[in-house]
Amino acid sequence: MCGIVGRFGDGDVVDSLVTGLTNLEYRGYDSAGIAVLDDDLSVVKQAGEISELEAAVAETRPSGSVGIGHTRWSTHGPPTDENAHPHVDCEGSIAVVHNGIIENHEALRNELEAQGHEFTSDTDTEVIPHLVEQALDEGADHETAFRRTVARLEGSFAVVVLCRDEERLYATRQGSPLVLGVDGSEYFLASDIPAFLEETRDVVYIEDEDVVTVSDDGFEVTDLDGDPVDPDRETVDWNPEAATKKGYDHFMLKEIHEQPHAVGQSVRGRIGGDFTDVQLAEFEPGTFSDVRNVQFVAAGTSFHASLYARQFLFDRGIPTHVYSAGEYATNPPPIDDDTLVVGVTQSGETADTLASLRHAQAVGARTLTVTNVVGSTAAREFDDALFIRAGPEIGVAATKTFSSQVVTLALFVERLVKDRTGSYSDDAPALLSNLSSLPSHIETVLHDGSVGHVMQRYRGEDAYFFIGRAEGYPVALEGALKFKEITYEHAEGFAAGELKHGPLALVGPNTPVFAVFTGRNVEKMLANVQEVKARGAPVIGITHPDHEAVTSVVDDVLPIPKTVPALRGVLANVQLQLVSYDVADALGRDIDKPRNLAKSVTVE
Ligand code: G6P
Repeated sequence: MCGIVGRFGDGDVVDSLVTGLTNLEYRGYDSAGIAVLDDDLSVVKQAGEISELEAAVAETRPSGSVGIGHTRWSTHGPPTDENAHPHVDCEGSIAVVHNGIIENHEALRNELEAQGHEFTSDTDTEVIPHLVEQALDEGADHETAFRRTVARLEGSFAVVVLCRDEERLYATRQGSPLVLGVDGSEYFLASDIPAFLEETRDVVYIEDEDVVTVSDDGFEVTDLDGDPVDPDRETVDWNPEAATKKGYDHFMLKEIHEQPHAVGQSVRGRIGGDFTDVQLAEFEPGTFSDVRNVQFVAAGTSFHASLYARQFLFDRGIPTHVYSAGEYATNPPPIDDDTLVVGVTQSGETADTLASLRHAQAVGARTLTVTNVVGSTAAREFDDALFIRAGPEIGVAATKTFSSQVVTLALFVERLVKDRTGSYSDDAPALLSNLSSLPSHIETVLHDGSVGHVMQRYRGEDAYFFIGRAEGYPVALEGALKFKEITYEHAEGFAAGELKHGPLALVGPNTPVFAVFTGRNVEKMLANVQEVKARGAPVIGITHPDHEAVTSVVDDVLPIPKTVPALRGVLANVQLQLVSYDVADALGRDIDKPRNLAKSVTVE
């Protein structure tokens, strides 16, 4: 949800700014812009994708060794040239990029307009350059003007400011991500690490309310009062290649194919004792011994991974609720003393999930984050963090992180059982050995090749439905989410038992139904298949191919290898990812950047 970059270099930084924005395009792509400082402050910005900005930059050829950039996902005001960032003050001498929302922007704008400032956009962001200008007019130096401005802002923001009179960047954050990359005497500021991963893996995570300045003197981090802060400098272990498509047409396809590796990473070193032990080095022994029930909070694909994990907990007799983070944040349920609140979030930056976890923490609950991003806000702010280790995911539609979330949560649930009862569940040996084989089973699905010819028969239908039970239910929801996200076709997922309570009214010959068979509740699933077949709907079964009771009834089969039911949903989900990709590709959709969507949604 908007990507910001700042760059302080030895030579011209324009190419590096544009590359950084391209790498952050998954955060937003409806308008983009840069500002660079040479003799003057040059701003190039417009509606449209970054490729269009690149063309404009090639035409106007700005240059400079310090600059800022922005790729936008509209919140305040439509995606027009005027609303594109960077925004400037009345004189065009202070340029600002911003990710987040300034909640008190209307009051600030009224005040600034009364002081004579003229606004040219509909955005909340534009108050920032005018506030800095006002403070400078009142005699403050640049740094003081920046600090005074930040003190006036309410809401969530990460901001980078570049002024005409100074070769220096000022940045801060409050609830929105911001990280500093350090490469010798060159610096990068960005919403996320992939922006500069090709250049450096040395990072400094900026904390809320810290101010970072970058200049010829190096970088300095201070708190809002100006007192020095000594932040940790870390080296991330992400491979720079992760930020490239490595020959695939889309990041999404590459990330689907990375799943054997991603899942392998998630379980690596965490299963021991010949499949009898879970080793999660993150937690002291007994960390979760008092937990009696679990609340998951998550959004989008992470919500579905949480629903999947709920099944692991149900199977082990642990009461569990899964909440949409947007609902939990505004209408929180009661929390008991022995409740563990688990925020599942790939990015670790989803505003709704953070707000939910903050509420839980504020009322005294124990909080755990399950995330992919080590330095993310969620990873740092709450009691414990467990990393899914999937590697960076760039495609807006989450794929490999779903699989990695599910397997990491499977391990976590066994660990929870051990802490509570002193021993793992009876299912642990089978689960753990099958988790170890899961990468090769995913490999089998990726090489299966059925999707292309099966889906040839089902392109251009009225709608697509997905059904499942137990772990097949969240897979049905996820299959439908992926499908609608990247094909823009009507797709819905249902708990198979719910069909007869409404959705059947929509079912007919032009609504293919994908039925997820995990080996559990097979009879009931077959009854649901008969319900839709009776209405003329073709049924595509995702099932083990030897399961004749299923294959003899459905119209087509997308096969998955045999494993424990608890993990078959992961394999079925990979087939459904390939289904969505196939249809979206045939329709020529913008698969990595589906319309209106952003990967990281940092506003509530
Ligand atoms: C956005 C993305 C989804 C993602 C969801 C939650 O909606 O488009 O792909 O699943 O946010 O993101 P998180 O980073 O919290 O897992």
